[in-house]
Amino acid sequence: MKRCFITGVTGQDGSYLAELLLDRGDEVHGIIRRSSSFNTWRIHERFQNQDGQKKFYLHYGDLSDGMNLVRLLREIQPDYIFNLAAQSHVRISFDIPEYTGEVTGLSTLRLLEAIRQAGLADRVRFYQASSSEMFGSAPPPQSEETPFAPRSPYACAKAFSYYITKNYRESYGMFATNGVLFNHESPRRGENFVTRKITLNLARIKYGLSDTLALGNLDARRDWGFARDYMEAAVLMLEHDYPDDFVIATGESHSVRELAEQAARLLDMSIEWNGEGRNEVGRDAKTGKVLIVIDPKYFRPAEVDHLEGDATKAKATLGWSPKTSFQDLIRMMVEHDARECSREAYTKRLQ
Ligand code: NAP
Ligand code: GDD
Repeated sequence: MKRCFITGVTGQDGSYLAELLLDRGDEVHGIIRRSSSFNTWRIHERFQNQDGQKKFYLHYGDLSDGMNLVRLLREIQPDYIFNLAAQSHVRISFDIPEYTGEVTGLSTLRLLEAIRQAGLADRVRFYQASSSEMFGSAPPPQSEETPFAPRSPYACAKAFSYYITKNYRESYGMFATNGVLFNHESPRRGENFVTRKITLNLARIKYGLSDTLALGNLDARRDWGFARDYMEAAVLMLEHDYPDDFVIATGESHSVRELAEQAARLLDMSIEWNGEGRNEVGRDAKTGKVLIVIDPKYFRPAEVDHLEGDATKAKATLGWSPKTSFQDLIRMMVEHDARECSREAYTKRLQ
């Protein structure tokens, strides 16, 4: 049994990771922020009614509060620390660059120092949620050998966190590992990331809950995997014999346009594209109705055009490989969102 400490436990990855660890019989401690609206839906609906076997504990905390982190680590004495907390939205990082640098970058240093202050540097194993976004404009396929070329305040902050994690490994001999994860999605994905935005909003259109979906760059390509598969990799990294840096990816990429077409097909709609640039629209081929429009507010000041990872090292060293195909991932998300929208439409009809 391992005692695990997760920052970002209320997020997509944190909720899958907590489940995986609890299912193995580990004890899980997560930090949650006090916020004006309830933000624990991903974990509460799963862990609220504990059956006595599950050891899941939530503590108030914030990555910007170093004293609190030291106190929590002293009290909890974790074996594993997973640092998943971040301002994780790339587009939004251009609006709040300083805050993103603080939370997504500097806070990793704060947490690593808290580990030292709490006297855990010799025994704790630390996982840093690094990102393929750090590769930025570097051409695909990207692997552990690819130099970083970050294109956003978010990516720059993640690059700082990557290097400081490596630095604490080299300077203090800490077991500090970077998981450089490519995009990973699920029905629990935040609604303003492009996969979920598409599956949810096309489902809303299908069930008459909204009219159109506004998107930005349709031609960006991403390597999209399933979040739970990727959290399995994070656990394997901390169970490995030594700390290191690992790329986690499917090795396959698709454009935002292909993603929208695939999601629409699963909802019995077929998209036909007309026009160019900002005037391009996606119409329902059967009815001619406009389903997708372009809104420049979703363009980024600097875009990452193509991410496609090479996870050969993780396969060879950790024995990890993805279990879920792109098609199955999008199907899972569409089915989830269609179910929710159909229920909402039904309730509206009754009112
Ligand atoms: P997410 O759903 O946006 O979750 C982010 C988490 O960080 C939330 O639990 C959030 O808490 C927490 N958080 C934000 N600011 C905090 C602060 N100041 N103190 C404490 N907690 C804070 O992100 P995700 O998709 O699960 O991703 C997990 C991590 O992996 C992130 O670091 C992300 O940058 C990185 N990553 C993600 C991907 C991906 O494709 N998903 C790929 C590579 C790397 P609240 O609920 O209170 O907001
Ligand atoms: N969010 C969003 N909304 N993205 C859009 C839209 C839109 O309306 N229209 C097009 N896109 C394009 C973006 O320009 C980008 O090229 C691509 O879709 C993916 O955008 P996101 O889903 O927001 O993800 P991301 O790749 O920027 O960042 C995610 O993956 C990173 C790993 O590479 C986040 O999860 C990061 O936290 C993570 O590190």
